[in-house]
Amino acid sequence: MTEQELKLHECYKFCQNRIKTATGGFIPEIAVILGSGLGAFADGIEVVATIPYSDIPGFPTSTVPGHNGRYVFGYVGKIAVVIMQGRVHWYEGYDMSDVVLPVRLTRLMGAEKLLLTNAVGSVNLDFKPGDFMLIRDHISSFVANPLRGGNFDSLGVRFPDMSDIYSEKLRKIITKTAKEQGLNLREGVYLQTPGPSFETPAEIKMYRLLGADVVGMSTACDAIAARHAGFEIAGISSVSNLGCGISDRPLSHAEVLEAADKSAPVFKSLLRAVITAVAE
Ligand code: HPA
Repeated sequence: MTEQELKLHECYKFCQNRIKTATGGFIPEIAVILGSGLGAFADGIEVVATIPYSDIPGFPTSTVPGHNGRYVFGYVGKIAVVIMQGRVHWYEGYDMSDVVLPVRLTRLMGAEKLLLTNAVGSVNLDFKPGDFMLIRDHISSFVANPLRGGNFDSLGVRFPDMSDIYSEKLRKIITKTAKEQGLNLREGVYLQTPGPSFETPAEIKMYRLLGADVVGMSTACDAIAARHAGFEIAGISSVSNLGCGISDRPLSHAEVLEAADKSAPVFKSLLRAVITAVAE
């Protein structure tokens, strides 16, 4: 085992002890990552235990406002979930293997399905702030591959297939769920940049030519590591702003958080319905 893989298993042992003490034993079915400003969803579930990231020896902890940084274990209805309330980003300076450690850990905990959420800027000219987009596929642009280095043999193979990275089966279920909720859920391609600067107008134009619909700084690397580890994955993006150059307003993180807050009520009820539907 590589040092990084050993570290993952040490973090896992620590969390399992904590979970056992708090609950007597808890196996999540679904893991959920909450993106910028979306953390409040975790406060609305039936919580059985929490572990702040800062309690876990060696675990990366987020420095970004809007990313609280803890695991929340609990139930949405009868469905056992582990929620990552807050995440760390590559632009914070962590090694890529640390960035994806939290999601890998939820796989070791037993979760088989992963719901990724994030705030994004639009690239597609038809998209507006407040829209939600189901991720059909992604482009990773100048972002390190999380599988670089020694393979984590305990999780998956050296050269994992990515052709169904965002599960078609889950996408069908989520599309149907959104329709039932009366929501116009868009579908498209997510592009991850390294951040933390927002894009230039020329880059947004380039990403449109490449086939991207939205742009963000977090999700593709998590999805690659999660797929490698055998997760069935779905991702939903919340459009918080028009991509740079589409409007003439300068972008700010405050605007992203404000927009995410505004979308939160609709997003929360969509996520709850999606968790219920994909667990069936
Ligand atoms: N660009 C990159 N990441 C983002 C954006 C954006 O415009 N909005 C929210 N996350």
